[in-house]
Amino acid sequence: MASSLPDIDAFRHVMGHFGSGVTVITSRDEAGPVGFTASSVASLSLRPLLVMVGVSDGGETLPAMRESGAFAVNILARHHQDLALRFAAADRADRFADVSVAAGSTGSPILSDALAWLDCRLHAEFPAGDHVVVVGRVEACEAVAGEPLLYYRGRFGGWLP
Ligand SMILES: Cc1cc2nc3c(=O)[nH]c(=O)nc-3n(C[C@H](O)[C@H](O)[C@H](O)COP(=O)(O)O)c2cc1C
Repeated sequence: MASSLPDIDAFRHVMGHFGSGVTVITSRDEAGPVGFTASSVASLSLRPLLVMVGVSDGGETLPAMRESGAFAVNILARHHQDLALRFAAADRADRFADVSVAAGSTGSPILSDALAWLDCRLHAEFPAGDHVVVVGRVEACEAVAGEPLLYYRGRFGGWLP
C-alpha cells in the first residue's frame, strides 16, 4: 500500500477502473443549444428525484445551466461514440450539427436519438475543487430499449450481458 499521497495520474488510472455510462449534458443560452460529454453523473435522491453531475468550472455549459436554471442528461447509446467525442472536443462550434433535438418541458435540448434522458431544473450546486457538483431535480424522464455506450479505462465499449 502506498504511503504518500497519489498524484493526478494515479488517481486517473484508478478511477478509470470505475466503468460508467456516457451522457451529453445539454442546456440553452441566448445563442442556442450548448452541451458537453459527461460520465460523472449519478442518481442521487428518490424523494425528491435528484441527479448529480460533476461539471468542470470554466466550461461553456455551466453558465448556460445557471442562467436557464435547467439542463438535460442525455444517456448515450452504443452507436454514439462519435457524438461523445464531438461533445468533448475543444472546438465547440459544430457540436449540434446534424443532431436532432427537441425541447423538453424545461426548454433544454433533448437528443432525439438518446437511449434515455432526464429533463431537470437546477436544484443546487456545490463547489468541488476544479469542478462544481450540479444537482438537478428531474421533471421528466424517458428511456427506450437499446445498448448503452460505456466508458472504461479511457476506452469506449458496449454491454455484453
Ligand atoms: C468519456 C468522457 C467523459 C467526460 N466526463 C466529464 C464530466 O463528467 N464532467 C466534465 O466536466 N467534463 C467531462 N468530460 C470532458 C468534457 O466533455 C470536455 O471538457 C468538454 O470540452 C467540456 O465542454 P464545455 O467546456 O463546452 O462545457 C468528459 C469527456 C469524455 C470523453
